[in-house]
Amino acid sequence: MTDLPAISDDGPLLDDAERWSVDQLRSHQLERLRDTLQRAYDNVPHYRAAFDANGFHPSDLRSLDDLAGAPLTSKADLRANYPFGLFAVPREQVARVHASSGTTGKPTVVGYTRDDIAVWASLVARSLRAAGVRPGDVVHVAYGYGLFTGGLGAHYGAEALGCTVVPMSGGQTERQIQLIHDFGARAIMVTPSYFLSVLDEMQRQGLDPAESPLEIGVFGAEPWTPAMRHEIEQRGAMHAVDIYGLSEVMGPGVAQECVETKDGLHLWEDHFYPEVIDPITQQPVAEGEVGELVITSLSKQAMPVVRYRTRDLTRLLPGTARPSMRRMEKITGRSDDLMIVRGVNVFPTQVEELVLAIPGLTPYFQCVLTRPGRLDELTVRVEADPSTAEGDREALGRDLASRIKRQIGATANVEVVGPDGIERSVGKARRIVDQRDDR
Ligand code: DLL
Repeated sequence: MTDLPAISDDGPLLDDAERWSVDQLRSHQLERLRDTLQRAYDNVPHYRAAFDANGFHPSDLRSLDDLAGAPLTSKADLRANYPFGLFAVPREQVARVHASSGTTGKPTVVGYTRDDIAVWASLVARSLRAAGVRPGDVVHVAYGYGLFTGGLGAHYGAEALGCTVVPMSGGQTERQIQLIHDFGARAIMVTPSYFLSVLDEMQRQGLDPAESPLEIGVFGAEPWTPAMRHEIEQRGAMHAVDIYGLSEVMGPGVAQECVETKDGLHLWEDHFYPEVIDPITQQPVAEGEVGELVITSLSKQAMPVVRYRTRDLTRLLPGTARPSMRRMEKITGRSDDLMIVRGVNVFPTQVEELVLAIPGLTPYFQCVLTRPGRLDELTVRVEADPSTAEGDREALGRDLASRIKRQIGATANVEVVGPDGIERSVGKARRIVDQRDDR
């Protein structure tokens, strides 16, 4: 096992809210929640109509549990109010917009006041600190800059922490490596799937990733597994921690894994109120049960969100490194990524864990869904390691297929392809390729 770099204690640097008692936090949340619901009701016609239709009024909120009576908000509501219909302030007060392209139809647009951007930066700064990054460090940002919240969100946060920021964005992999080395980056912020390409490119250039100046990777924007963490930490001799967020709620920095525990992500509950619901019945699940994460913003001005359905599946756990803030378990997947193969539920993250357990295979894979007859079929296309002999690929494929059968219970075809046989992404990896005709 490779030794990982030592990280200094961040105790003296914590924000006040990170030291609050649970009681302090809950009373802050109740107050902020009342304010958010009232502002949404008064300033956003969509919320007024949705609250009225549910027979819910902001003054009904007497305890945090009463929030369950408020209507849920979904991506479809953002689309229906395209582009600025959910803004709660005059457009002139919106200092920035971001948008997600989405696969179909109109993009979803989100807006921020200057204060919102300052809060966002402070939460990314807090997240980076929890990840082990310290003022004065060089932070290499390889999340995409632009309408995607990853690049600019990371950038402002690293600046707010007092770091030297390298705004590299995604792509130009050879260049990334040169700058990481020449500028002495201690931390990198990037999707885990693209970071794998960066590690591969280092090795192709004859560099040992363990010798790079990187000590910390802050990885998010897509699901990734503990097996992937292990792979990155061992190859790179660096800490790999998880950062979560979504543009509708803010961007990166909604929740962050603490480097000293690496046991799930602390939700920054002074700014976001989390719930977990059953995606079918839409009712809150019992404490600690897995379901869909729903978030209500507590401080956003330009675009407050009330009970936003993230589609992300996780469960809430008690706080550890930040005792009063709850953790969310590493995300297993989005409900949209659930593949049902002859009645068996399969997430790409489950496939990722199995792929990583087989020496000779690389973590580059895609799940291809087809429907040759009436039933869905899953083909996992996975790339062999360059050192794997061509003649050995078939056996590796059989091994993976049998592990998928044994451990997930699903029947999958496996195709092991040669080096560079699977497309590389410089941002979020496309794990599911849906070739079913009626989609
Ligand atoms: O991906 C924001 C972000 C940027 C987060 C950089 C972290 C780092 P969206 O493009 O709106 O925003 O996509 C949000 O990405 O609902 C999840 O499904 C997924 N996602 C984000 N972070 C994680 C994570 C950004 N750590 C959607 N683990 C979310 C798993 C994640 N999935």
